[in-house]
Parts: sequence; structure tokens; C-alpha cells
Amino acid sequence: AAALEAYDGHERVWCGRDEERGLVALVGIHNTALGPALGGTRVWPHESFEAGMTDVLRLSRGMTYKAAVAGLPFGGGKAVIIADPKKDKTEALLEAYAEMLVALDGQYYTGEDVGLTLADADFIRERAPNISGTSKGGSGNPSPVTAEGVFLGLKAALAHKSGSDRLAGVLVAVQGLGSVGWSLCEKLHAEGAELVVADIDTDAVDRAANTFGARMADAGDILFVEADILAPCALGGLFSSDTIPQLKAGIIAGAANNQLARHEDARLLMERGILYAPDYVINAGGLMNVAAELAPGGYNREATMRKVTEIPRTLTAIFQKADAEKRPTNEVASDIAMARIADKRS
Ligand code: NAI
Repeated sequence: AAALEAYDGHERVWCGRDEERGLVALVGIHNTALGPALGGTRVWPHESFEAGMTDVLRLSRGMTYKAAVAGLPFGGGKAVIIADPKKDKTEALLEAYAEMLVALDGQYYTGEDVGLTLADADFIRERAPNISGTSKGGSGNPSPVTAEGVFLGLKAALAHKSGSDRLAGVLVAVQGLGSVGWSLCEKLHAEGAELVVADIDTDAVDRAANTFGARMADAGDILFVEADILAPCALGGLFSSDTIPQLKAGIIAGAANNQLARHEDARLLMERGILYAPDYVINAGGLMNVAAELAPGGYNREATMRKVTEIPRTLTAIFQKADAEKRPTNEVASDIAMARIADKRS
């Protein structure tokens, strides 16, 4: 039922299975009106096939909106490999997945996501052409670019809410200290923000305490700590009618995909006066980076970083329109995406 609820006019979903090599992979193609489907591959030990299916359907839909709002000529796609990245991600599994990508014959382009590292992407690239964000001749790990966009977007949200984007003394709660979360912490710390952090990986939390003087919070509490800004940089499905009443931060601005349990929950955030930077707008830097690699003429870092500076401008326009129309920010953002897709279709 949950998977059916997440199904939203997807064009295609493929399932790849190789029992011998331990692969169960789902590739979701949501919408290709604007171009070929592009989106990362997640490796995660979902508790069931259905949970993996729900994840891939929600993630691939998010990519359609992300590319459309960012003005990129790509459609929405995403892959989920149901496996524990720490235990099950063998070379044989990645090899089987590369063969699946080859079989999809250019209908889906991928890159890194949670659980799939730059080294994995390089390994796959040697066996399948349709993966970007690789180090050999590619644009590299997109996470630092994602973090830059999130950082600029977070400052735009702060400026919109408080009239200034000065971070000195501003308390930011960061959930997840992986590739994006860590890089975001570096940038926040460099501009004088105070940090409170959590990760299920306690070593990462210790490192953040030592490196940034960050306060440590329990992974179960980080969403609800007293902070000015909450930056979710782990997994999605965080904000719902259960959790929203308990939030204390006035701004949500982070990298995680699918932060809302349901699209409609953004209204609850608005009613509580919490400014929500729509996830697929603020975290589009990584997509901009891999899309640049696939563009005619090839990858150009400077042009990509210029494109990333559009993120705070886009967000500010969304915040202003949402205020003027008294509508949730993600509704305004999805209108922009839908209009671009409708324009292209007509
Ligand atoms: P990552 O795998 O490097 O880091 C995720 C971190 O979250 C890990 O340290 C993990 O231990 C931690 N984590 C997982 N569950 C947690 C929980 N319940 N509480 C606290 N920490 C938890 O992933 P990455 O690449 O940093 O991505 C983070 C988020 O940003 C994901 O939702 C991803 O889809 C999204 N994103 C990433 C992009 C990129 O360029 N890497 C681009 C756009 C979105």
C-alpha cells in the first residue's frame, strides 16, 4: 500500500535480481519529459522489498522536480540496491549492477547516493558507461557541490527569516555527518556558526566534536533540539504530523532527499511558522554537477559553481511567493517544476 501511495505516474520501474551475486536492485524512472532520467544509486538495507520500492518511487519523483526547478534538461530517475553498504556491497554485487545499467541501454544515468561511494562509482564506470560523478575523467564526488548549494541555500533561508545571513552565533543542528553533512559543517564552522550534531556512526560524532567543537546529540533527539536551524543530512521521511509539533528550530534547510513524510505535511510546517527550504531545491548542487558532466562540451567546474549560486536566488523567490500567497514553500516549488514540464510537453 505504501509503495502504491508513492506511485505517481511513474513511466517505468525495473527490478534487477542476481541471486548468486546478491543483487536486488530497483530502478525507477519517474518522468522523462525534460530529458533522460538522471539520479543516483542508493545502497541501503531496506527491511523489505516494498520499503525499497517505496523509497525508489519517492526518490525518482523527487529527481523530476529537482531537475525541473534547477532548469536542467534531465528527467527523474533513481536506483535503490537493497543491501547493507557495510556488509553486502561486494565487487560481485557491483558487477551485477553494472550489467543491469548496461542492459538499460542509456535510459537511465546514475551516480553516487547514500551507500554508494566514489570508489564504487569508479568500479562501475569501468564496466558501464552510464554513470557520472566518477574520478577518472568525470566530475568526481558531487557531495561537496551539494554541500555548497545547501550552505548557500541555508544562508538564504536565514536572511529571509531574520533579515541577515550572518552565521556567527547561529546554532545549527546537523543530522548526518556523511559526505554532505560533514562538508556542510566545515562551511558553517568556518563562518562562526555553532553546531549540534548527531549520527548513528558515533565515530563521526566524536570527530565533529573534536574538529568543530560541536555539541553531541542523540540520533533520536537531533530533530527536536533547541536550535535556530535544522539541517537534515541523513535519510528522509522525517517531518510528519507526529514530529512537526515537537520541532524547535525556526528553519529547516538540509540536504536529505524526501524530508517530508507526505507532501501535505509542509502545510503543518507553515502553520507552525517554520521556514522549510524544499529539499529538492536546496540539494540540487550535486545534480547540477553530474548534469554538467553529461552536457555537450563536457564538465566545466567554474560554470557548475556559477549554476549552484542560482540555488539561493531560486529559494528566496520561492520563500517570497509562498509568503505572498500564504502557501507552503514546497507547493510553490512543485508549481515551478510542473509548469516547466507542461511547457516542454506543449
Ligand atoms: P552519506 O551516506 O555519506 O551520509 C549519510 C550519513 O547519515 C551517514 O553518516 C549515516 O551514518 C547517517 N545517518 C543515517 N541514518 C541516520 C540517523 N537516523 N540519524 C543520524 N544519522 C544517520 O550520504 P550523503 O551523500 O552525505 O547524503 C546525505 C543525504 O543527502 C541523503 O538523503 C542523500 O540522498 C541526500 N543528497 C545527497 C547528495 C550528494 O551529492 N551526496 C545530493 C542530493 C541529496
